[in-house]
Amino acid sequence: LTPKDLQGRRILVSAGPTHEDLDPVRFLTNRSTGKMGYALAQMARRRGADVCLVSGPSSLAAPLGVERLMVRSALEMQQVLLERFPETDALLMAAAVSDYRPASFAGQKIKRGGDEMIVRLTHNPDILQSLSSLKTRQVMVGFAAETEDIYTHARQKLERKHLDLIVANDVKALNSGFAVDTNQVTIIHRSGQVEPLPLLSKAAAADRVLDRLVALLDAPLVR
Ligand code: C5P
Repeated sequence: LTPKDLQGRRILVSAGPTHEDLDPVRFLTNRSTGKMGYALAQMARRRGADVCLVSGPSSLAAPLGVERLMVRSALEMQQVLLERFPETDALLMAAAVSDYRPASFAGQKIKRGGDEMIVRLTHNPDILQSLSSLKTRQVMVGFAAETEDIYTHARQKLERKHLDLIVANDVKALNSGFAVDTNQVTIIHRSGQVEPLPLLSKAAAADRVLDRLVALLDAPLVR
């Protein structure tokens, strides 16, 4: 039987990639499919939470009982999360947000030109960082998709983005990361505690992350 240990908690989950439009038919994106974020939303709902899932473009179906808001670009995702953040108890930021977007959007399809073409990109805002300054009671969980030196990079992100937990994974490892149903993650706590988990289904990995979230939500506010 699933414990209802998130009953009465409002949880905001972001998932999927973002699409950064270049012209009416082309965009920049990444390999995220949304599976980890959707699993988090589904399991949090099963454990009794009121869940709002802010999803970039994804072919996955909305989990039952979850409010889903579809967005496209990083800027759209930021806007929706900003609106929902004040009323939430925890944010699980599983989306693979594009770091850059085309500096300008071409209103018409870009024509083929010479041998080379240069596209100018501009930095997207760091959504987690922008929300951390609005943090009151919210528990914030980030995800770090790494390809090398996982622990050091994830630890730096936890500090920089003022997170309570960061869930790191090696996206180059077999059966882990993008587009598969399993994940091997390491949960890193603010305290420095490092918890490597075995290769699990994304649903099981989500449950383990939610176990940690429950503990943080139940802890006195000393953060
Ligand atoms: O810096 P990096 O993208 O690796 O950090 C990963 C974490 O930061 C994820 O939780 C991701 O959703 C979040 N992020 C963000 N805004 C960005 C880029 C990443 O909130 N522009």
